[in-house]
Amino acid sequence: MNKKLQCLAVVCLAWLINFSVAVPMAATGKDTLRVLAIGNSFSQDAVEQNLHELGKSVGYTIIIGNMYIGGCPLDRHVRNARNDAPAYVYCKINAEGEKTKTDSVSLARALADEPWDYVSMQQASPLSGIYESYAASLPELKDYVVQRIPKDAVLMLHQTWAYAAHSTHSGFKNYDSDQLRMYSCIVDAVKRASELTGIRKIIPTGTAIQNARTSYIGDHMDRDGYHLDLKIGRYTAACTWLEALTGQNVIGTPYAPKGMNYDDREVAQTAAHAAILRPDGVTDLVDLKQPAQRANYDEARVPVYTLPDALTLQNGEKVSTAELWMQKRRPELLSLFTDEMFGKAPEHPRTMHFKLLSEDKSALGGLATRKEINVYLTKDEQKYFTILMYIPNRRTGAVPLFFGLNFKGNHTISTDPGISYPTPEKQQEFRWHSLPPRGVAAARWPVEMLMEHGYALATIYRGDIDPDFDDGFRNGVHPLSYKNGQRRPADDEWGTIAAWAWAMSCAMDYFQTDTDVDASKVAVFGHSRHGKAALWAGAVDQRFAMVISNCSGCGGAALSRRAFGETVRAVNRQFTHWFCRNFWKYNDKEDLLPFDQHELIALMAPRPVYIASATEDRWADPKGEFLSGVYATPVYHLFGKQGLEINQMPPADTPWQDGCIAYHIRTGVHNITVYDWEQYIKFADKHFKE
Ligand code: GCU
Repeated sequence: MNKKLQCLAVVCLAWLINFSVAVPMAATGKDTLRVLAIGNSFSQDAVEQNLHELGKSVGYTIIIGNMYIGGCPLDRHVRNARNDAPAYVYCKINAEGEKTKTDSVSLARALADEPWDYVSMQQASPLSGIYESYAASLPELKDYVVQRIPKDAVLMLHQTWAYAAHSTHSGFKNYDSDQLRMYSCIVDAVKRASELTGIRKIIPTGTAIQNARTSYIGDHMDRDGYHLDLKIGRYTAACTWLEALTGQNVIGTPYAPKGMNYDDREVAQTAAHAAILRPDGVTDLVDLKQPAQRANYDEARVPVYTLPDALTLQNGEKVSTAELWMQKRRPELLSLFTDEMFGKAPEHPRTMHFKLLSEDKSALGGLATRKEINVYLTKDEQKYFTILMYIPNRRTGAVPLFFGLNFKGNHTISTDPGISYPTPEKQQEFRWHSLPPRGVAAARWPVEMLMEHGYALATIYRGDIDPDFDDGFRNGVHPLSYKNGQRRPADDEWGTIAAWAWAMSCAMDYFQTDTDVDASKVAVFGHSRHGKAALWAGAVDQRFAMVISNCSGCGGAALSRRAFGETVRAVNRQFTHWFCRNFWKYNDKEDLLPFDQHELIALMAPRPVYIASATEDRWADPKGEFLSGVYATPVYHLFGKQGLEINQMPPADTPWQDGCIAYHIRTGVHNITVYDWEQYIKFADKHFKE
């Protein structure tokens, strides 16, 4: 390459970096974004649906206007501007998401309708790849717009998309009816138009659509050869706009139109995000060539895998003593699980304080004392959760405690009429449409049986800590940890499961102050998603003297590398808020995980841990849960303790409880039953009472 060319290349590169890389648009730092599109049916496809809802699901109010004339090219917009022609249908979506359409609106009127933060312009699709058509009209349109919007408003160019390869649109001839040719002409024309006018911001919808076409969706992003498919097409466009406007990675955004499956949602979001990262070229979505395979339930199709060795440090050093485990390997694993899976949680708040709300010494017909305690996380008492406790009345001194989260509200674990309902404000935060009936979950909570065996019970409704849906981490405890301007946890910061575990650890601070319970004998337990949380609570907070995982499955006790039943990808895709964003790196790439779940079990050592499965709960991979216990066992040996000393899964309903890692597989479905509880009590008797 000669000097001149080299120079040119450098200039081009600088230009590319300057102009093509998406400039994060939430530069305004506003929560309410006002966006006006001056367009046609292509802007209608992009902004008139999904965009407002997408914004709302991550904390933005997006007020949207679209100035619509079917097929309107830039030169006609210019003429309309000159003549102040009331020629448009003005579609407006207000702060509440209500859509109105007004006929006969002029550009000047729409431009004056809101203090717009962003105004976009675009070319009609037949001309969208012809630079000269932009050069002829865009500068004048830009000047017209600029005079009528706030000084700090941002102008944008909407890069529209190429037609479907089979399109019969007459404009396709401009590109020899070749999709990729049309696409590259659009990219090039918009880029040059951006350079010409100084409108730096490009919304790369065309690239996003082209990216999505490389996935299993293929060339089916349209509905008629040129307009976008009503579901995935339009949604992909809106995702691109969202990320362009907010500067936030759209992948994992909870909103999707009704009926859209997880696979399609993933394609749309990934295509949009890739377009923002690389607006001028197609990104081949190599990981999305197939819709996620159906769950594998065939032992013969479990991939060949090698588990990381619990007793080898990352630097290859072997861990041969309990001291080395505690001093080196345990902290190493804990921080790997923290950074790559559950996410970092903050310290317990210094302002945390407890209040006894109610105490009834003759609950359950005199069998127990019932207490309700609020754990306030902030000084102003705005953030709190409520612990419900039962303590057996027949006791001498402090008693051991079973402690776990519940699914439907404290008042659902027993028909005891004395349990408080959550406040109306809390119910609203939980998005309860109706109050779950009192005692509806009582079958899972044999309170009397526990009392009779001399155990206290404590529970918290998990939604009281962090509601179990993805609202972009605005509700629940996450905002407590946000730094100035932060809107959601960073990629290595706590997801919902870590938040639940964190609150359980905060509750442990309370138990240490409660003289009714023996805080050195607290068994943290959980069923299913709460089993994942219990395991993480037990891993992080060694004050929990025993840990019980009931059907915790993927992300809990089950080995990820087996990919049997629920997989890392499936859990991340369906429950976008449970784990930290870093965990997404391992979707379909379990082999890259620097740990596996046997090491989560090992983090309990030398404390007793109980893993339980159910025969019909194949989604949770009973064998993978069992094997975690087996492979965690060498760590218990370092402490001179027995782990799970069997190599074959025991027959159903035949618990193995001889070591510090107990296991059973109960006949039946995904549930926690009295049978399971009987085993946990036996195990606790052995470790807490003998
Ligand atoms: C789903 C989810 C599991 C989870 C379970 C539950 O099935 O895929 O990971 O354990 O819900 O919490 O009931």
